[in-house]
Amino acid sequence: MKFYLAPMEGITTYIYRTVYNRYFGGIDKYFTPFIASKKMNRRELNEILPEHNQGLSVVPQILTNRAEEFLQITRKIAEYGYDTVNLNLGCPSGTVTARKRGAGFLSVPDELDRFLYEIYAQSPLHISIKTRIGIASVDEWETILAIYEKYPLAELIIHPRLQKEFYKLTPHKEAFASALAALPGIPLCYNGDITSPKSLSMLLDAAPQTDCVMIGRGILRNPALVSQLDEHKIINSCSKDTFKAFHDEIFEGYAAQMSGETPTLFKMKDLWTYFIESFEGAEKHLKKIRKASTYSEYKIAVNSLFRDCSIANYHTDTPV
Ligand SMILES: Cc1cc2nc3c(=O)[nH]c(=O)nc-3n(C[C@H](O)[C@H](O)[C@H](O)COP(=O)(O)O)c2cc1C
Repeated sequence: MKFYLAPMEGITTYIYRTVYNRYFGGIDKYFTPFIASKKMNRRELNEILPEHNQGLSVVPQILTNRAEEFLQITRKIAEYGYDTVNLNLGCPSGTVTARKRGAGFLSVPDELDRFLYEIYAQSPLHISIKTRIGIASVDEWETILAIYEKYPLAELIIHPRLQKEFYKLTPHKEAFASALAALPGIPLCYNGDITSPKSLSMLLDAAPQTDCVMIGRGILRNPALVSQLDEHKIINSCSKDTFKAFHDEIFEGYAAQMSGETPTLFKMKDLWTYFIESFEGAEKHLKKIRKASTYSEYKIAVNSLFRDCSIANYHTDTPV
C-alpha cells in the first residue's frame, strides 16, 4: 500500500510536511495545497522551493480552469525541477466552484474536456488529477470517467464524494471501485475518511485492488496513523514526548517564517483543531490555547495540556 498526505490549504504547508516527515514519515508522496495565481505569490512559491522540500517526494497542485494559466504555472514549476503537477478538480468551496474551478469544473464536462485536451497536449510536465465524482448526483461519474479515459493521466486521486456533499456523509466507495474497473491503465489512489485500520479494511472490502490511499484529516488528528495502517512504515509511535517535540518544531518553523505572533498563533490554532483529537479530556486546555494572544500565553496553555492530558487510546490501537 502506498500512502499520500492530502493537500490541505493553510495546514499541510511545507513547514508541517517537513516536520511531519522527520518525526513520523511513511508517506510516499506529498502534495502542496493549491496554487491559483499565475504570478505565484510568495506563499505559493515557498511551498514549491526545493530547499523547503528536501528529502520529500512532492507534487505541486494547481487550481484553475484556464488552460493558458495552467500551462504558465506549470512552466514556472518545471523550472524548480518537478516532473509532475496535480490538477485540483475536487475543491467544493462555494467561492471556488462559483467560478467553475475545483469540483465546480465538473459541472461543465465539455469545457473540462477541451481544457484537458489543451493542457495534456502542451504541458512540459506529467499531470495527475485529484477529483470528486460529480456535483449533485453519482450518475455524473460515468461521463467524467469517460473524459479522464481519453488522456494520459499520470495518476487519478479520487475523493468519491459529490461537490454538494462537501465533507459530509460517507464517501461513495462503489464509485471508486467502478473507476478501478473502468480505468485499468491509470494508477488510482483513494481519498476520504481513512482514519483507522478499520476504515482502511472497509475500503479494501469494497475495492480490494486498492493499492494507494491519500489521507488528510486522519493524519492531522493522529500523526502516527500510517504506522498503524502498515507496520512496515513505522517511524515513531505517538508518545507525548514525540508529539510535544513535533509540535514545538512546527511552532518554531512558523515563528521563524511568519511576521509576528498573531499570524503564527493563527496557524497553530488551526492545527489544534486536529491535534486536540490526539488527547484525552483536553477541551478546557483547547479553550486556553484558542484564547492565547501572545507566545507566552500560548506556551503556558500548551505546556499544561501536555502535562495534564494523556494521548488518546486509539493511538495505541493495534493494526487489524
Ligand atoms: C481545511 C482543508 C483544506 C483543504 N485544502 C485542499 C487543497 O488545497 N487541495 C485539495 O486538493 N484538497 C484540499 N482539501 C481536501 C483534502 O485534500 C482531502 O481531499 C479531504 O480532507 C478528504 O480527505 P480526508 O478525509 O483524508 O481528510 C482540503 C480539506 C480541508 C479540510
